[in-house]
Amino acid sequence: DQDLLTNQLFAGKKVLVTAGPTREKVDPVRFFSNHSSGKMGFALAEEAARLGADVTLIAGPVQLPTPTNVARIDVESAEEMYQAVNSYYDDQDIVIKAAAVADYRPINTYQEKIKKKTGNLTIEMERTKDILKELGTKKQGQFLVGFAAETTNVLDYGKAKLVSKNLDAIVINDITVEGAGFTTDTNQVWYLNREGKEHLLPLASKRDIARQLLLIIDQEIKDESK
Ligand code: CTP
Ligand code: CA
Repeated sequence: DQDLLTNQLFAGKKVLVTAGPTREKVDPVRFFSNHSSGKMGFALAEEAARLGADVTLIAGPVQLPTPTNVARIDVESAEEMYQAVNSYYDDQDIVIKAAAVADYRPINTYQEKIKKKTGNLTIEMERTKDILKELGTKKQGQFLVGFAAETTNVLDYGKAKLVSKNLDAIVINDITVEGAGFTTDTNQVWYLNREGKEHLLPLASKRDIARQLLLIIDQEIKDESK
């Protein structure tokens, strides 16, 4: 059976996965976030552990059970995710950044709840750190995989991120495809590597997609070291 063949494929490998959204606080009762469910990242962590990897899962705020044999660290903001990812990065073999990290956060976080007034409210935002880009800059042998969710020019935008963030591969979600994207239990993705390989993984459960991605990554690492 498939499991017997691939059972310990990732034995001795350290895999870091990020998953879910981040939350950027406005005041004690409000935050900015996005629709990421964390399902794809959790499926990757679960499948990597089933393949025998030593898995660390850095999760934004999601309501999902921790997969078996996975060490989970919960974070809230992009800054907290950045700190956590950095503290685990150095000795990882594979790093998969499935999290949907906020690009902006409010410049000011209010200690007291903002009371409504007449007229409009403007909240000024500043950029968060691009965690993945920094990982690409200081990469030392890790196989670094990014995710991208796009609505147009899907492959072109994906390729641009692969290059600009110095990734080994990128997994691209076309969130306009029925059954693919943030909150569904299924997904359809493109896997692109630096050598120009473009691999479509047709619509399947996120668990299946996760497993296929991990098997491709394993093969890529083996090809690299030839
Ligand atoms: N990412 C990150 N830190 C950020 C923003 C994004 O690590 N502050 C990572 C995501 O985890 C994902 C990849 O970068 O693996 C691509 O995220 P995406 O939002 O698609 O790309 P951006 O570079 O943020 O570009 P844009 O949102 O403008 O398309
Ligand atoms: Ca973004």
